[in-house]
Amino acid sequence: MADQYAHSGDNKRPTEIPALRWDEPPEGPVLVLLDQTRLPAEEVELVCTDAPALVEAIRSLAVRGAPLLGIAGAYGVALAAVRGFDVDDAAAALESARPTAVNLAVGVRRAHAAHRAALARTGDPRQAAGAALAAARQLHREDAEASARMAEHGLALLDELLPGGGHRILTHCNTGSLVSGGEGTAFAVVLAAHRAGRLRRLWVDETRPLLQGARLTAYEAARSGMAYTLLTDNAAGSLFAAGEVDAVLVGADRIAADGSVANKVGSYPLAVLARYHHVPFIVVAPVTTVDPETPDGAAIEVEQRPGHEVTEVTAPQAPVAGTEAGGGIPVAPLGTQAYNPAFDVTPPELVTAIVTEEGAVSPVTAGALAELCARSRQV
Ligand code: MRU
Repeated sequence: MADQYAHSGDNKRPTEIPALRWDEPPEGPVLVLLDQTRLPAEEVELVCTDAPALVEAIRSLAVRGAPLLGIAGAYGVALAAVRGFDVDDAAAALESARPTAVNLAVGVRRAHAAHRAALARTGDPRQAAGAALAAARQLHREDAEASARMAEHGLALLDELLPGGGHRILTHCNTGSLVSGGEGTAFAVVLAAHRAGRLRRLWVDETRPLLQGARLTAYEAARSGMAYTLLTDNAAGSLFAAGEVDAVLVGADRIAADGSVANKVGSYPLAVLARYHHVPFIVVAPVTTVDPETPDGAAIEVEQRPGHEVTEVTAPQAPVAGTEAGGGIPVAPLGTQAYNPAFDVTPPELVTAIVTEEGAVSPVTAGALAELCARSRQV
């Protein structure tokens, strides 16, 4: 099928603006975000001067994606500390801004712990703020390194599962440099395959309702110069049936101790399709996304988002003040109720492999994941 459906990637300019950066202008330190609600139309920066502004940016998806949420959360604690706000309050608000991606809590707690320890040791709030910022920077660096290692392990796994190259990979949501200190999770593997000349095509699910695939993954794919094609989420079944998918690669927001994977809603149906069609379903995520405290899929809290994201067609944005509306174009009768979970949970038996910076786990079992986490803690 399908080369007539291809976009060959005509815009190879890498974005000048990183997903997130710490800056120290004369008016005081700030966290600067690339506002992902405005992509791909505009590359606009959003400047956060305090934790409440960052909480709002997280809720509105200006900053999003599990690893980046962790990094943002850690910088948010540092921002509160450096600017002299109540760090405990800021950490609590940031940690609970969105419930599903465990990386957010991991990042916030790491910077918060560094702050607390330095304060206890020195009694000096400036040194404590410096420790929180150092912890955020360290997490940012580690995520970039993890990303590079996931890409290596993921490409090796693809080559093992699909000898001969020419991979046609289907992905869902957005998992590239917009969600990471590096080149991302699943998308970093896709990029590695592209650079190695082994990617034939990236199939990009549009990812309703907020279109992270159409707006963000297509934007990243275009810039990389890879061959990619966008499809509606419900076209995936016919694509599998036509034999056009060699592997599915997705990221994760939380991986429970038993290997259940929470990721963007629509991932679970892809795993079911992949199993039926004998296609590997591969999850790529840093070890920080594995949460040993969450025993299984049923224990993962799935974020429910406002109904207007479904009843209206729009980029993600906050509701219009004082109304239920989101400012988009209505596509359903006024007053329609919507079911809008942001994530779904794929059981471990449908996951062919989980690829982390420490290597791949396959088959996915609680024991293998526990071993991986233990190995990672020893490093
Ligand atoms: O609601 P979002 O856009 O934050 O959801 C993001 C995803 O589901 C990603 O696939 C996930 O965070 C894994 S990739 C980094």
